[in-house]
Amino acid sequence: MNTKMRVPVRPAVGKIEEYKPGKLVKGAIKLSSNENPLGPSPEVVKAIIKILESGDLKLSVYPWEQDEDTLRAEIARYLGTDVETIVIGAGIDGVLDTLVKIFIGSSDEALIPIPTFSLYESLVTIAGGIPQYIPRKRDGNFTIPVDELISASNDRTRIIFLGSPNNPTGNCISEDKVRKLAESVPTAMVVIDEAYVEFADSSLVNLVNEYENVLVLRTFSKAFGLAGLRVGYAAIPEWLESPYKKVAIPFSVNSIAIKAAIAALGDKDHLRRSIELVKSGREFLEDNLQGLSKVYPSQANFVLVDVSPRKSSEVCNTLEKKGITVRDCSSFRGAGDSFIRISVGTREQNEKVVEALKKSV
Ligand SMILES: Cc1ncc(COP(=O)(O)O)c(C=O)c1O
Repeated sequence: MNTKMRVPVRPAVGKIEEYKPGKLVKGAIKLSSNENPLGPSPEVVKAIIKILESGDLKLSVYPWEQDEDTLRAEIARYLGTDVETIVIGAGIDGVLDTLVKIFIGSSDEALIPIPTFSLYESLVTIAGGIPQYIPRKRDGNFTIPVDELISASNDRTRIIFLGSPNNPTGNCISEDKVRKLAESVPTAMVVIDEAYVEFADSSLVNLVNEYENVLVLRTFSKAFGLAGLRVGYAAIPEWLESPYKKVAIPFSVNSIAIKAAIAALGDKDHLRRSIELVKSGREFLEDNLQGLSKVYPSQANFVLVDVSPRKSSEVCNTLEKKGITVRDCSSFRGAGDSFIRISVGTREQNEKVVEALKKSV
């Protein structure tokens, strides 16, 4: 028997790339992953220590359903809408994984306006589905060409992915456009990914009440500073709760993360400080980089910068040598090779990246 033979991997696996996270270089200023420069609320840290020390939370037992129910109720209260059906997962990533399993089978299609978050295409491809890529308009703000999306849809289209604010372009989609898509493509779920919405002017979560084919994704990774704990959620139409619960991995959000997310929702001051820091830092970056290279208007906690005629990889390497990591966007499908994405940091970090860029582009 040939013990060296390898078990065949599904062909779909060969079609996808490994997820490329923002670069982490020890000791460097990390502006590559859109994290919260303030970190989590101190109340969250205190709550975790307290529940572990008091023995109120036993790590030897599976997460309690009651705690999950409390978190879902607190999220609904935080959203402040009539949306009642909330599901949670291990980050938006985990929620997306479940949604794609629900809707995408062999040869089902998904519409993906590019450039955008790469996980959408990886999950669809792994599920045996077909991602249809529609380039965003190069109109200075990467607007979604809604009529082109509608023309590209067919009766196998099951999901339309809309990052809003979108990563890496930073812009939002308008309510009118989402309505038009939801009404024109009723065979598809319109998935609005609002990972960065706390930093934006408005949310589209209210549309979940109106349409059976619209849902909104949110996360504790960005404005709440809990990326390391992996908690995300979705506001969904009621009918989707049962399929979601059947398909989701049981206990995918761990008990510490559930308690931490509840505590995070209780500290409104920390949330407000995080949002203010991002909004003022974003303005600082936009104002100070504008003369240097083209900076795209952003509603998120990062800015997209076109460094042409330089290559993004060159500029990222130069910055890294100066102790700052930012995101080279050439790995985003359809982005080309001259875009970098800079996460908004503390005032000091923002000043340093501006200084370093002045000498690099
Ligand atoms: C648009 C978008 N959605 C989702 C995520 C992942 O969110 P989470 O940490 O909740 O999995 C990211 C992460 O950067 C993102 O940019």
